[in-house]
Formats: sequence, structure tokens, C-alpha cells
Amino acid sequence: MKKLRYPFGTITITDKTKQLVNGALDSGRISGGKLVREFERGFAKLVGTKEAVAMSSGTDADALALAVLYDLGAKRGDEVIVPSLSFVATGNAVLQAGFIPKFVDIERTTLNIDPKKIEAAVGPRTRAIMPVHLMGKPADMEAVNRVAKKHKLLVVEDAAEAQSGTYRGKEIGTLGDMAAFSLYIAHVISTGEGGIVATNNPEYANTLRSLRAHGRACKCETCMMSVSGGHCDKRFKRGTDIRFIFERVGFSAKMNELEAAIGLGYLDIYPKIFAARLRNFKYIHKQFAALKPHLLTIDPVAGEEMAPYAFPVLVPPGAKFTRDQLMTYLEDNGVDTRSLFLSMPTQCPGFSFLGHKLGEFPEAEYCADNGLHIGLHQDINEEHIDYFIELTKRFLTGKI
Ligand SMILES: Cc1ncc(COP(=O)(O)O)c(C=O)c1O
Repeated sequence: MKKLRYPFGTITITDKTKQLVNGALDSGRISGGKLVREFERGFAKLVGTKEAVAMSSGTDADALALAVLYDLGAKRGDEVIVPSLSFVATGNAVLQAGFIPKFVDIERTTLNIDPKKIEAAVGPRTRAIMPVHLMGKPADMEAVNRVAKKHKLLVVEDAAEAQSGTYRGKEIGTLGDMAAFSLYIAHVISTGEGGIVATNNPEYANTLRSLRAHGRACKCETCMMSVSGGHCDKRFKRGTDIRFIFERVGFSAKMNELEAAIGLGYLDIYPKIFAARLRNFKYIHKQFAALKPHLLTIDPVAGEEMAPYAFPVLVPPGAKFTRDQLMTYLEDNGVDTRSLFLSMPTQCPGFSFLGHKLGEFPEAEYCADNGLHIGLHQDINEEHIDYFIELTKRFLTGKI
């Protein structure tokens, strides 16, 4: 069998991106301005929200969306419910925003927050739920929203891995109060590095624009000096320069024009990228059926479209090999693999100060120890997938 390279992620740079980057470089305006606004509008249109606010990373998108809670009366040290299994950014963002993560175990069959366990995690200081649509699989948003409504909690979707998925006919990103996306290169739409929060609430969008720029009072679209050509009617209306009034504790998390240019290139050819990823997603799920029950994955169910982000693999209990042996074999043969993250509270040392003990989140810990994922992006095709399946068959039958 011919050895192939099967990379985890890719970046697509279009001619439009090159033109826009050159234009920005020639103009000398690199910091966030009209390209960022154009990208935000295009992204919001794609997701189907009124607003989208771009940031420097998906982690910032999570953190700043949560920091909006302070405008709604939350206090530092209040709690945000999150699944125990996710990329560590989810938990980091809660802490960076000044809140305490309240972890809930996941379901092994979906990799997402266990809907039966959410309500028990609500306490007097709980202010929000941040479900994660891990591996593009929509979380049970009906359950999340039911608990949120009953206890008056904000819902922020961590949609970092779920751009273009749908749940009961609705686009991921429109299912809560805000949704945070990552635009890192492994994701369906990328700006190289970056993140973006989508919302239908214009007030939240204004607050997010303030939060990403140090908490400044100058936050509406027309106040962006580089968009308005340097003039702002409101600038001195509050007795002093509005750009130096800081209304809230802010972050420095702006996207720049060069990143937005990459994102605009992606939006331009989005149908092609999405079609290629979807084709890969459907093909790998079909071919992988031959490996069950020796290996497992997460399948879509009726009423949802999983986002074609990545393909998770779980080693079932009782297997005669370990996840690490399978990963090593795939890597040695050119297939990039990533583990299936960690149980943040019990397997990430940075969270040990919260006092959780190994064994507290058995499903998350099982998936972390026994799961891996590989890419599904636009620069791989059926040949790569056939190669991965054949390699895995050889591994399982000992013909390596
Ligand atoms: C579930 C989840 N949340 C948040 C993030 C953070 O995104 P970024 O790497 O852009 O900061 C990621 C990264 O891919 C992620 O997978």
C-alpha cells in the first residue's frame, strides 16, 4: 500500500485573500477595520444571526461572550456550567472571564454534556450554561434551553467545532443567546487564528465590541475610526474622549485586517469547502461501518446535521490494544491524529485547584483515555479516507 500524508488541518488562501491582504498592506491600515466588518457581516449572514463580532481567537470568543454576563448583573466568582470533556480552551475561557466552571459529565454516545445531569449542577451562583458541540455533534439544546429558561441562565454555545451544523432544522450558532466559534486552521471557516461570536442581540454585540477593545465606551459600528475614516460624531459628546472611557473590565482581543482577508476568502468559496468536507464526512462514516464494533465513532441522528469538522474514533472497552498504540501506528504511517481531549477538571493539572478527583467524570475520562480524532478537511479526499480505513483494518487484524 502506497504511503500517504493525511494532515489534520489545512488552510485555503484564495486569490481574493491575496488581493485584500495586498490592499491592506498598501493602505497601511492593518488593525481591525473595514475588512473585519465585512467578514463579520458575511459570517453573521451565513450563520443566520443579526450580528457577529470577530476576535483574536475562539478562546476569546468563549471568554468574551461569558463576560457579557457582568452587564447582566453577574459577579466575579459566579458559576458557568460546562461539559467536563472538551478542548481545554472551554474551561480556560470560563476562568479567564472571571467565573468558576461547574463541570458536568458527558455521554459517551454523543461526546456532549449529559442532558440528564445539567439541572443538578445549577446552584445559587450559576449564571450560564456553555454546552460544546464537540466534533461537530450538536449538544442536546432542548435540554440545555429548558434548564436555562427555568433558572434564568444565559446560554452560550461553544460552537468552535460546529460551524455549519444544524439541530432540528436550525443552524448551530442560533440555538442560545450567543455562540462562540473558533477560526483556527482546522475549522470549516478559518482566518488563520481567530474567533467570532454570533448573536441576535444587538446589545450583546455592542458589549462584545467594547470587551474586545479593553472595555472602552467607543463600541458601536460607526465608532470604529478606521471604518468611518477617522471621524466620530460621538467622540467628545461625553465631556472627554469616548475612546478613553473604559466602561467595563476589558480584553485586548481584536481581529486584524490580514486575518479578516483570509476569512473573506473562505466565505467567497464556502460552498466548495463545505461540499468537500461534507463528502468526506459521509464517505468516512460509510466506510468506517466495516470497523465496528472493534472501533466506534459518533454518528448523526435524525433531525441533526453534524458539522463536518473532524472524525472521532473510540476504542471500546475490552479491546486488546490501546488508543495510544493505534495512534502511534497511524502517525507512523502518515496519518495525523489528535487525542479526544481530556476531562478538564480531573485530567488537566491546571484545574486541580478546583479540587476534583479522578473518577468523578467517568465518561469524559473514558473518552479522553480511549478516543482520538482525525481531520476531514477540504484537502483530503476518498483516497486518504480509504488509506486510513485500510491501515486501521491492518492494525485490527494484526497484519501491520
Ligand atoms: C471546543 C473548543 N472550544 C474552544 C476552542 C478555542 O479556539 P482557539 O484555538 O481558536 O482559541 C477550540 C479550539 O479548537 C475548541 O475545540
